[in-house]
Amino acid sequence: MNTESHFTALETEAHPRWDTDVLIIGSGAAGLRAALAASENADVTLITKTTLKESNTLYAQGGIAVAMNIDDTVELHVNDTCSAGCGLCDIDAVETMVAEGIPRVTELLDWGADFDWEGTLPRFTQEAAHSRRRIVHKGDATGRETTDVLIQRVLNTERIRTVSNAFAIDMLTDSTTQSGNNSITCYGITAIVENQLVNIYAKATILATGGLGQLYPCTSNPEVATGDGFAAAWRAGCEMIDMEFVQFHPTTLYLDGAPSFLISEAVRGEGGRLINIRGERFMDKYHEKGELAPRDVVSRAIQNEMLLTDFPCVYLDITHKSAEFIQERFPTISNTTTHYGLDISIDLIPVRPGAHFMMGGVRTNTETETNLSGLFACGEVACTGVHGANRLASNSLLECLVFGVRAGENAAKYANLLSNTLPPKIQLPRCDYIHLNDVNSEMFKNTVLAAKDAIRDTLWENVGIERDEEGLEFALADLAEIATEIGLNPSTSMNGQSTDIHLNETVNMLNVAWLITRASLIRTESRGGHYRADFPDQDDVSWNRRVIMKIGNEPEFVELNQ
Ligand code: SIN
Repeated sequence: MNTESHFTALETEAHPRWDTDVLIIGSGAAGLRAALAASENADVTLITKTTLKESNTLYAQGGIAVAMNIDDTVELHVNDTCSAGCGLCDIDAVETMVAEGIPRVTELLDWGADFDWEGTLPRFTQEAAHSRRRIVHKGDATGRETTDVLIQRVLNTERIRTVSNAFAIDMLTDSTTQSGNNSITCYGITAIVENQLVNIYAKATILATGGLGQLYPCTSNPEVATGDGFAAAWRAGCEMIDMEFVQFHPTTLYLDGAPSFLISEAVRGEGGRLINIRGERFMDKYHEKGELAPRDVVSRAIQNEMLLTDFPCVYLDITHKSAEFIQERFPTISNTTTHYGLDISIDLIPVRPGAHFMMGGVRTNTETETNLSGLFACGEVACTGVHGANRLASNSLLECLVFGVRAGENAAKYANLLSNTLPPKIQLPRCDYIHLNDVNSEMFKNTVLAAKDAIRDTLWENVGIERDEEGLEFALADLAEIATEIGLNPSTSMNGQSTDIHLNETVNMLNVAWLITRASLIRTESRGGHYRADFPDQDDVSWNRRVIMKIGNEPEFVELNQ
């Protein structure tokens, strides 16, 4: 075996160097909103993996949940969020999000967000597990509208510089030990920009890289969502928490030749019914709320019906609504399905569950601080505990807006406290790859692509909607084998300095897949998005606590609200 690494040691100063006060990684709602907030007091560089527009936010259909309706209160929205979170929510984080969500949404409307209105109020819609109609929306393209408004403002802000096609690889960190305590400071990142490695030094860094749906073969998330931020944070020494809690959306399109496109929960909110291949409506068998049961319940029910009928999907029926209503309320869905030959005002929509949202992530407090000095995190990559074990529909954009502002403000404040001296000593990203092949060879490139598919398959089979010990152990062994194929160890590898995006994504996917699998094995109960067939009940005696994982350390536990 050739044990020579194909990644030469990183000579940081050999790469071009950029400097900024606040560096933001990611251009979804959280990153964009953080940039606007930070730019009030600092110079900001915002980098994004592909285009400024491309993120999970762009594809968000349902809307933004906000307690602004006349019969609604902050308390009711907090209660609904906590019930969906199955007892695992951090109450301070929830109260912060719900209360500050009102000025954040009001501000978005003031900035020109063209949401649907009914008289003098936004047209609030209903979604599962909400006790009130509280979802503001723009048809089924709320994410697109939010993105457009925020991008316009970012582009008009002089103190924000945006850089597209910049892939963040690893954090630049420095660690010191004082009285036995190891403390790590983040000074920015190394990124691939125009096929070159660039060191971007920042006084404060905000991670807003979004989700990881692309770790699964069926997902509502776009191609960029390969979990890069989770992996970079983990490698840098961040505490990762609640990594077992992945939410599977019950209804993604299942049609030959079409991507597994999201079919919004709002379709069920408007009376859409789920039926199996035999034409039987089935949700009432599984939950008193029928189609509007919590997402994990609906996803498992659909999976079970697929198994019972030996058919790869079920159907969503919205044909009781007129073509005009559907076009007005669900233009994105309707135009997409029409493109694939389906008229949803007369045809049933073939659907099945897909990975949708990560509840866990980089542990932060409500100020968005991580355990690394100088590193803040917000949006899907972060975990304040606001979603607990399961996210309530349409709370994700709300989270992005609220904690985006907090991250921007706090990062700018932090940056302004620092002197202009250069960081004392940067710890270079370590390279402990063992490569069997030339990284540039066709053969190696194919191996990397095959590895991505293999990761997805093993997660879907063993770490998906239903899990058990045997499957999880199998997945861990499988991940180790996949990693060996490309010369890595999924639990410890540091990233290197290849400018090959697929290779970097694969390293990241392996790291994150390992974290999800490991955390799922540790939690021997079922709760929210994490269902263990071998431990089907929620166990409040042993498991009212959260799992924290940190590289090189044994998992730790935190009791609730500590
Ligand atoms: C949906 O429209 O069903 C997704 C909204 C969400 O995930 O909150």
